[in-house]
Amino acid sequence: MKLLVTGGAGFIGSNFVRHILGQHPDWQVTNLDKLTYAGNLENLADIQAQAGYRFVKGDIAGRDLVDGILKEGYDAVVNFAAESHVDRSILDASPFVDTNFKGAQVLLEGARVHGVGRFLQVSTDEVYGSSEEGYFTEESPLDPSSPYSASKAAADLMCLAYHRTHSLDVVVTRCTNNYGPYQFPEKLIPLVITNALEDKAIPVYGDGLYRRDWIHVLDHCRALEAVLLKGKAGRVYNIAGGQEQPNIELIKLILKALRKPEGLITFVKDRPAHDRRYAIDCSRIEKELGWAPRFNIGNGMADTVDWYLKNGPWWRNIKSGEYEKYYQRMYGSR
Ligand code: NAD
Ligand code: TYD
Repeated sequence: MKLLVTGGAGFIGSNFVRHILGQHPDWQVTNLDKLTYAGNLENLADIQAQAGYRFVKGDIAGRDLVDGILKEGYDAVVNFAAESHVDRSILDASPFVDTNFKGAQVLLEGARVHGVGRFLQVSTDEVYGSSEEGYFTEESPLDPSSPYSASKAAADLMCLAYHRTHSLDVVVTRCTNNYGPYQFPEKLIPLVITNALEDKAIPVYGDGLYRRDWIHVLDHCRALEAVLLKGKAGRVYNIAGGQEQPNIELIKLILKALRKPEGLITFVKDRPAHDRRYAIDCSRIEKELGWAPRFNIGNGMADTVDWYLKNGPWWRNIKSGEYEKYYQRMYGSR
């Protein structure tokens, strides 16, 4: 199979490229990535010379570039490319519209014109908004709270519209919060691990009782592979780890694994429109495609903590430089 993966130099995209080339060494993968602050070619250093893999630096919203690539003929597009951090979308929503919405439409149009066999849109459970109790299914209404989730919801709707209007073979996945190797340390879990390793304060928003469902990135990658190969066109698939945790409990679990004191926990001002809880029902993918997560929060977190312990140069390099300016703006110097 010949795949165009976008955003493959980011966290989930790089894990997906590695997973796919490991499972299907005869597949060809082109990775189109703009290399924003979140894109890092070091994430794929072990893959870059592999036969069948090619990297192209560029913007998914660039029509001519996308057209030139897709005219080569692809069996599928897997769209990971996005601005992905809620806090950044509160500071400035415009790149979220440009990449997450407009970029997705440019890819869809290129896929339509050049007869791409399947378009997999990698989306998020955040499009459903917050739920104090119960679980959202794929039929639940979209009710996004942040500019990030609004831009992802808009892209989901555009994908499904291309399926209905142009019969493009589109599948959309909505996954819960990922964690694992190569996650940029602005997100909660790598931020907690790396701040703790540096004996820095751990910023906890509000009362810390916000709840998320956590999935190991490799379980997400296996689910995406299943949807790519066996998903039904025009369908949405929820993907969940089934490991719901209040933030504060998760942070304490990580501190315990690192033998660091809970005194590092620092309650800070809450995020505006902070969703209290994300929770989705993923029985469709389990029943239709036979997928189930393999990690739980215990072994998944042990694997992740171990990776960050072994890969100090990777995250220390990120935490110096540009990222530090963002961190200072968010939290001041602590
Ligand atoms: P990430 O921020 O780590 O990586 C995003 C990648 O996209 C980077 O490599 C970046 O350079 C690239 N990119 C950004 N703008 C681009 C553009 N205009 N053109 C080409 N490349 C561009 O994000 P992630 O956490 O790996 O998330 C990947 C996808 O999965 C996103 O679409 C996100 O919405 C979705 N998702 C993430 C999670 C999560 O917990 N991280 C959960 C569910 C869904
Ligand atoms: P995050 O990793 O940003 O993912 P999302 O907001 O997309 O779910 O945050 C996960 C949870 O952790 C969310 O409830 C916000 C909270 N959080 C903190 O308490 N402190 C932090 O420094 C960060 C980044 C997040």
